[in-house]
Parts: sequence; structure tokens; C-alpha cells
Amino acid sequence: MKAEILDGKRVAAEIRAEVAKSVEQFVASGAPAPCLTAVLVGEDPASQVYVRNKARACEKAGIEGRTHRLPVDAGQKELLALVNELNTDANVNGILVQLPLPAGHDYDEREILDAIDPLKDVDAFSPINVGLLMQGRPRFLPCTPHGIVQLLHRSGISTSAKKVCVIGRSEIVGKPMAMMLAQKSGSCGPDVANATVTLAHSRTADLAATCRDADILIAAVGRPKMITGDMIKPDAVVIDVGINRVDDKLVGDVDFDAAAEIASAITPVPGGVGPLTIAMLLHNTLMAAKLQTG
Ligand code: GUN
Repeated sequence: MKAEILDGKRVAAEIRAEVAKSVEQFVASGAPAPCLTAVLVGEDPASQVYVRNKARACEKAGIEGRTHRLPVDAGQKELLALVNELNTDANVNGILVQLPLPAGHDYDEREILDAIDPLKDVDAFSPINVGLLMQGRPRFLPCTPHGIVQLLHRSGISTSAKKVCVIGRSEIVGKPMAMMLAQKSGSCGPDVANATVTLAHSRTADLAATCRDADILIAAVGRPKMITGDMIKPDAVVIDVGINRVDDKLVGDVDFDAAAEIASAITPVPGGVGPLTIAMLLHNTLMAAKLQTG
């Protein structure tokens, strides 16, 4: 195998330790421990695992991690009422509504995310926080793209003047990722910016050629092994955001074995981007607590 493995697990542990230290100092200054409240609607197994992992990571970092569980059929009004209650609860610093909301029960995801107090919006999904990011003056950075920025930075990979192709235009990963990398240096975290970004998607005319043109390829489509070896430029950096369950195994959006023979560096699945999302959530929760105390 030619490619260097970008160890997201190691970088995430490093960031979690940094956050834990900052939390300790924050609490030593007389502030209460930061509190993140996750809201889980229904019993989707994957969402249950994610929420449990988030709560566990919080506790390890000295952050109070609460979970509110609502039955699958609680309904939009009850969920909205809970969000409003958490907005006004001074003990809650960060609110996270686990997505996706259950299908077939008429939840309006956008209305729920719009209702979260922007100062408690540790996912950075509210229109205010998305707008601030767009303008290059972010408050919270969305966790997965921010984790990728940290991984690149801490691995010594510069994005300046590089051609980056982001595949997938989701609100959670693709769109904010493209925006962050295109910003001027310094506005979105460490010195990972100034890239020339292509945001590719299902209607991109020649996806293979578009990908092959990229120095850094970021796949966030949710389709197992969709990015094949022939779509990768020799010595490119490949970031795989996909977590797809196939025959009880987790696989990414990239055909790892083929890509690792062509790329200069690549993230594994699992153990690549995944652990960074939670690390940056802890970072945002501490930031929220500081903003609300300030
Ligand atoms: N579901 C998958 N990823 C995420 C995330 O980053 N935040 C929330 N709230 N739900 C998710």
C-alpha cells in the first residue's frame, strides 16, 4: 500500500484531551460544567449508538451529557416544545437534535433546526450559524467539516491553492465543507483554506474526470465504494466521510484498497473522519458554555 493512513482516531483523541483540559480550566474559574443535551426521537439503532457515544465522550471530557428520548410518534408539536424548553433552560449550553428524524411521522426537520437557539446550536445547522459561516465570520463550525479541517491541518496537509473536489452537497457535510475550504485563510479554524473548490453531486456531468482533477478529494455521498481507483489522481489526498453498513461491515464511499494504491494519503473507515465529529462537538459545547457565560 502506497498511501499514508490519516489516523482520525488519534487526532480525535488529541483534540478531546485538549478540550478536556480547557473544560477543567473553565470549571476551575468557577463556571459550572458545560452541558450538552441530545434529543433522540424514536429508536433507530444507528442513532441510538451515535447519541450514546456522544454522551460518553462528553462525560470523559468533563462535560455533562444529557439525553432526552421521545417516542417515535411524539409529533412535531411535542418536539418543538422540548426544543423551546431547552432553549430557555440556563443549565443547558448545547442542544443537538439527532438526525434524521423518523420517516413517516410528519416531522419537519427544518422547522425544528430553525427553532434551536443559535447560541446553543452546537451542530451549526441553524440559518444564523450557516449564514455567519457563509460570510466568513463563523460562530460554531459544523462538526464533521471542522473535524476534516483539523485532520488536514494536524497531518501537515495544506489546502492553499489546491484543487479540492467535494462530492455530495448535503447541509451537514458537503455544502459547509466546500464553503470552509474556499474561505480566506484563518476565518474557519486553522490555516486550511484558500482552496479552489468544486462541489460535485449526482448531476455532475463527468464525475470521474472531475474527481481525477482534484489534489484533495472529499467523498460525502453515502454510497458504498462509489469512488473507484480510476477516479483518483495519483498522489491525491482522499478523505472518506461515508459510513455505510454492507453485510454487517462498515465501508466508506471510497474503494479503499484501490484508492490506497494511488493516493498519497487516505482516511480509513472506520477510524477516519467519524471520531473527529464527536471531538468537534465537544469543542463546540465548551465554546457555547463560554459564549453563554461571557
Ligand atoms: N446525524 C448524522 N450526523 C449528525 C450530526 O452531525 N448531527 C446531528 N444532530 N445528527 C446527525
